Amino acid sequence: MGKLEGRVVLITGAARGQGEQEARLFAAEGASVLLGDVLDEQGAAVAEEIREGTGEDRARYVRMDVRREEDWAAAVTAAKEAFGRIDGLVNNAGILRFNELTATPLEEFEQVVRVNQVGAFLGIRALAPEIEAAGGGTIVNTSSYTGLTGMAYVGAYAATKAAVLGLTRVAALELAAKNIRVNAMCPGAVDTPMANPGLLDPAGMTDEAREAMADLYKRVVPLGRVGRPDEVARLALFLTGEDSSYITGQPFVIDGGWTAGVSLL
Ligand SMILES: NC(=O)c1ccc[n+]([C@@H]2O[C@H](COP(=O)([O-])OP(=O)(O)OC[C@H]3O[C@@H](n4cnc5c(N)ncnc54)[C@H](O)[C@@H]3O)[C@@H](O)[C@H]2O)c1
Repeated sequence: MGKLEGRVVLITGAARGQGEQEARLFAAEGASVLLGDVLDEQGAAVAEEIREGTGEDRARYVRMDVRREEDWAAAVTAAKEAFGRIDGLVNNAGILRFNELTATPLEEFEQVVRVNQVGAFLGIRALAPEIEAAGGGTIVNTSSYTGLTGMAYVGAYAATKAAVLGLTRVAALELAAKNIRVNAMCPGAVDTPMANPGLLDPAGMTDEAREAMADLYKRVVPLGRVGRPDEVARLALFLTGEDSSYITGQPFVIDGGWTAGVSLL
């Protein structure tokens, strides 16, 4: 028996990176998964691979822009049509923009808020009634270590990731009586196209730049390396499955010890 046998979970931003690994792992653990994204070709290909890999019709891709209310409604309809109900959500879609705070144009700031913060809010609002109707379930929000500690040049991003922790706590309080648990993940640096394009795709970065980044992580991350998306997927699995049955409203840091404190070693 898989850890998510019989569950139906919508994962946003599942065409690549952490969301893709979450969709693959959840399906391997018995869940039916709906992969939402705006990268249609990649998302559809991942869903197809999951169907082939499991030999079962337990993965669907749906185009959804998390900023749009109507896309959330359509995703819920698609999940119910395909799998009968929905009892889990991973709010994973996100964007990152680098800029000094005082140089950030309003449009750029609002763009990041729309995807990372408003997107998560719309997801909770759209899915909570469905999860309640299914008898309960889980919501996992993707924050970041920058939502806990701050980081220079990612002001808009860090602000939205702190906001996601606020949303997580309030949703956990309001939805607990409906048997819906809500938790958040705070990953450190993870090897995905968002943060480290050159590490995954050697063509995206020169050898020297890649070595410099690897060297940087070796020095600043106590565990000495960047995280892998499948490691974050395993945390998402824990928070979605019954192993976390008495946990709600909490942030979970997964960062190789980066935010543990100052190390002089
Ligand atoms: N990679 C890291 O170092 C890191 C660290 C901490 C937190 N995170 C968070 O993890 C989550 C996953 O990021 P990732 O590292 O896999 O990056 P990624 O860029 O590889 O994946 C993000 C996915 O979200 C999708 N997306 C973007 N805007 C969207 C929208 N409006 N509607 C629907 N989908 C949209 C993208 O198309 C992409 O498939 C994000 O919330 C990110 O902020 C990443």
